[in-house]
Amino acid sequence: MLITDFGYNGEGVGRVNEKVCFVPYTLVGEDVEVKVVKENTSFIKAVPTQIIEPSQKRKVPPCPYYAQCGGCDFQHMAYADELELKKNILARQLSKVRFGEDFKIYSSKREYAYRNKIKLFTHPKGLGLKQAGSDKVVAIDKCLLIDDEMNKALTHINFFVKSFKLEKYLENVIIKKHRCLNVWFVFSKEVEVDFMGLSLALGNNSRIYASFASSKPVLKYGDKDLEMTEFGIICEERVDAFHQVNDDICNKLYNAIMNKVEGKKMLNAYSGAGLLSGAIAKQAKQVVAIELGEAEHESAEKLKARNGIKNLQNLHGDCGMVLNEINETFDCVVVDPPRSGCDKLAIEAINASEAKQIIYVSCNPASFVRDVARLSNYKLKTVELFDMFPRTANFEVLASLEKIL
Ligand SMILES: C[S@@+](CC[C@H](N)C(=O)[O-])C[C@H]1O[C@@H](n2cnc3c(N)ncnc32)[C@H](O)[C@@H]1O
Repeated sequence: MLITDFGYNGEGVGRVNEKVCFVPYTLVGEDVEVKVVKENTSFIKAVPTQIIEPSQKRKVPPCPYYAQCGGCDFQHMAYADELELKKNILARQLSKVRFGEDFKIYSSKREYAYRNKIKLFTHPKGLGLKQAGSDKVVAIDKCLLIDDEMNKALTHINFFVKSFKLEKYLENVIIKKHRCLNVWFVFSKEVEVDFMGLSLALGNNSRIYASFASSKPVLKYGDKDLEMTEFGIICEERVDAFHQVNDDICNKLYNAIMNKVEGKKMLNAYSGAGLLSGAIAKQAKQVVAIELGEAEHESAEKLKARNGIKNLQNLHGDCGMVLNEINETFDCVVVDPPRSGCDKLAIEAINASEAKQIIYVSCNPASFVRDVARLSNYKLKTVELFDMFPRTANFEVLASLEKIL
């Protein structure tokens, strides 16, 4: 089958008996043999079994788990070609709201070893990642998206889990690295585990947490009150709160947002653990932030108190509900929702607001263009692509919309 186009997730697209067929890990122009994994009345999903005629752009993926573990999508091409593909994916989405191809792309300083967080699941052979679109876990010894220190930790954790036969009770393990290495064991039930050996192996600059069922993580080893400074703001290093995963791109993204908010009265919806609202508060006249997550809200309140930020109010709750309860006007709204985009209630409230500008941060171009279309009182003015997730089909979009007068 000839791959003639790309899909919204960067996969190859061909045709079988006139029916469109999506094939991941293939490039436009390639002749491939495929195995059908799903078929319905309108499309087929397949996997490549042989690349008969490879594209000149094809590269050998450096990772042995590529196309198995579900972590990466674009290791079979050069990073420059990945950026070009991401540009085309975004341009195609933007054409739905009649926006042209005129946008800047911020590439990541590192194409590998950039992630500060990895979530691993249990497998009889050790820890692993979930296959794309499935709950099947593929055991891994190493991940190229995290750095050497995190990979060394992964080796120690794998050995620890196997030695103490923890697979039965362990749901997942999160490794998160900022100023120090944080390891969080999530168990399905209360179990007695002695983490001392692992703590020694991980070294002084590490912390170990454990939680049972859906309880909060409890610190088992390491320094309780660790802080870090970002954008001139002191914040706690917390294992259970949202943080952008690529520090270099996070820096570029937050700086671009901070440049747009000087002297304004701001609303920051879907505000996370408070770092972005804290950074915005440094430039803006006043900020109201709304966040649903309990850990994130708690963290944001601590950040505000620790830095003595007076012009920031953190509200805890669902954006749509809170926006319908508060009776305030803003000059500008920053939204940074999860992949599903903004809830309908939130979009309606923002669309009906008096804000002159909306700054939309999105990690999913499909829900982003849906929301832009719903914001009928606003016109999309600028779009920028920030490659937060190299080697995967995901990226961040930063857009500015202006009120139609
Ligand atoms: C993509 S993160 C953005 C966080 C923050 N802007 C940052 O850069 O760290 C999305 C945040 O939205 C929060 N969230 C999800 N659904 C929400 C809702 N309905 N109302 C308010 N916050 C929500 C999540 O807990 C998460 O912290």
